[in-house]
Amino acid sequence: MSRQQVTVQLGDRSYPVIVGAGVRVELNSVLPATARRAVIVTQQSIPIQVATDIPSTTVVIGEGEQNKTLSTIEHVVRAFAAAGLNRNDVVIGVGGGLVTDVAGYAAASWHRGTPVVHVSTSLVGMVDAAIGGKTGVNLPEGKNLVGAFWQPHAVLCDTDALATLPERELRCGYGEMAKYHFLTGDDLLAMDRTSRIARCVQIKADIVASDEREGGLRAVLNYGHTLGHALEISTGFEIAHGEAVAVGMIFAAHLAHVLGRIDDERVAYHQQVVAGAYGLSTALPRDCRADDLLALMQADKKALHGLTFVLDGANGVELVADVSTAAVTQALSRMEVR
Ligand code: GLY
Repeated sequence: MSRQQVTVQLGDRSYPVIVGAGVRVELNSVLPATARRAVIVTQQSIPIQVATDIPSTTVVIGEGEQNKTLSTIEHVVRAFAAAGLNRNDVVIGVGGGLVTDVAGYAAASWHRGTPVVHVSTSLVGMVDAAIGGKTGVNLPEGKNLVGAFWQPHAVLCDTDALATLPERELRCGYGEMAKYHFLTGDDLLAMDRTSRIARCVQIKADIVASDEREGGLRAVLNYGHTLGHALEISTGFEIAHGEAVAVGMIFAAHLAHVLGRIDDERVAYHQQVVAGAYGLSTALPRDCRADDLLALMQADKKALHGLTFVLDGANGVELVADVSTAAVTQALSRMEVR
C-alpha cells in the first residue's frame, strides 16, 4: 500500500502521521487553519523541498550533532522574529531527527508555543524522532539536556527521501526499527517498507498516547539505549546512535537471560532480527572496557534506582531497576568483541 495514516491519540492534541512516497504534497492540507505564514527549518543536505500556499521563509541550520545547540535555537527563533511569525502561524521542520528536534523546541519556545508540522526525511525520524513530542538540544554536559514536550500538529513521513539516505543513516534507522520487533508480537519482517514504518509509528503512537510524559511505559522505547548511550560516549560518538542501540539490544537480551527473564531461543531471536534481518553489527567495539561501560551506565539519567535497564521478559519489555553489577558484568562478558 503506498500511503498509510496513523493517529497519535492525545485528545484535542491528537494528530495524524502520514507515511508514503510523495506525501510531502499533502503539506498544505495538514497546516493549522489559523496559519497565515510559515517558517521552514531545514538543512542544506535535505533532498526534499516543500511548497506552502501561505507565504513562507526558510531558515537553514548546520549539519551534524555539533549544531544541535542553544545557539542554533537562537538563530532559528530570530528568523521567526524576522518573519513576523506569531503563535497562530506555523513552523515546518523538514529533515531528520536533528531538524525536527530543533524545529520542535524552537516552536515550543516561540511565543510560549507555536504549532509545528514535521516533514520527516530520515528513517530514524519516521519511526522515532518526529513522533511523540520530544524536542530539544544538547549541552556540552550531555545530549538532549534542554528540551520540552511539544507535540506536532501533523507529521508527514515522505519515503521518497529514503532513496538518497546515506548507508550509515539507513543503518541507524534500522537500529531504531529493530527495537519494535521486541515490543509487540507483530511479524514486522513480513510487511513491505511503508507498512512496516507505519506499524512502527502505530506502536510508538499507542505508547505515547498512554504515557506522553514518560512516567512509565514510554521508557520501553529506550530498549537497547542504556548500553547504547554508554557506547556512544565511550567511543567519542564514533559509533552512531542507531548502531549503538543495535549492540545495546543484544546486550539487553544477554542481561535478561542472565537474570532468568528469557530463554536461549529468545536471545537467538534478538540476534536473528538485529544481525540477520537488518545486517547490523552486534559486537562490542574492542576498545570499550567493561569497567568504563559499567560506570557510564551507572551515570545514565534514567538510573534513578541503581542500574536500570529496559529488559525483555515474560510480561514483555519493561523497566527493571536495581540490577546487580555482577549480572551486568556477566552479560557484557557474553558479548562478541570486534
Ligand atoms: N525516542 C524515545 C521516545 O520518544 O520516547
